[in-house]
Amino acid sequence: MWTVKFTEKEFREAVVSSMGIEPGDTVLEVSVGTGGNIPFFTKYTDGMIVGLDITESMHDICREKIERFGWRNVRLVQGCAEYHPFKDPVFDRVLIGGSINYFSSPKRALEEMARVVKPGSKAVVYEQITALDRMLGKTRLDEEWIPRQLEIVKFTHLFEGKFYLYVFEKKV
Ligand SMILES: C[S@@+](CC[C@H](N)C(=O)[O-])C[C@H]1O[C@@H](n2cnc3c(N)ncnc32)[C@H](O)[C@@H]1O
Repeated sequence: MWTVKFTEKEFREAVVSSMGIEPGDTVLEVSVGTGGNIPFFTKYTDGMIVGLDITESMHDICREKIERFGWRNVRLVQGCAEYHPFKDPVFDRVLIGGSINYFSSPKRALEEMARVVKPGSKAVVYEQITALDRMLGKTRLDEEWIPRQLEIVKFTHLFEGKFYLYVFEKKV
């Protein structure tokens, strides 16, 4: 059982600030869910924000929030983290957050992330570490999943070890 000592806002600010988003950047969030990170992206960029997710009902909720809150320059694409519909490499920043453990192939999803991010640009992955993960020693990505084009520029645990976070840079 967790004692929660942080707010969702603090958490999302910590994640999104680690992405180093600059004005005009195009951002892809893989597994965007209901769009919890989107308002934090828009603080940094007026460039295109793309949310990819496999689940239509998640998009329905996210679309309703886009309209309700007037988030601009956001596009939702239904698709799979393991096989993106995007040409490579078109994004300045890519985020995979809280979804690695859902994927049929995390390795394949990380390869796709590496393919669509521009050379010299950043990709960020975070994941929750559950009590079971901790017992199994799963407190970081499996090294074999990380594509060679991605260099780890930062690895950290957030909020007393409840999450891990990687910042990668795609080699030029
Ligand atoms: C816990 S939610 C994370 C939402 C969001 N990243 C956030 O931080 O609020 C996990 C999401 O992963 C999506 N998902 C699961 N498997 C997927 C896959 N193979 N490709 C794309 N999205 C997937 C689910 O539909 C769900 O919206």
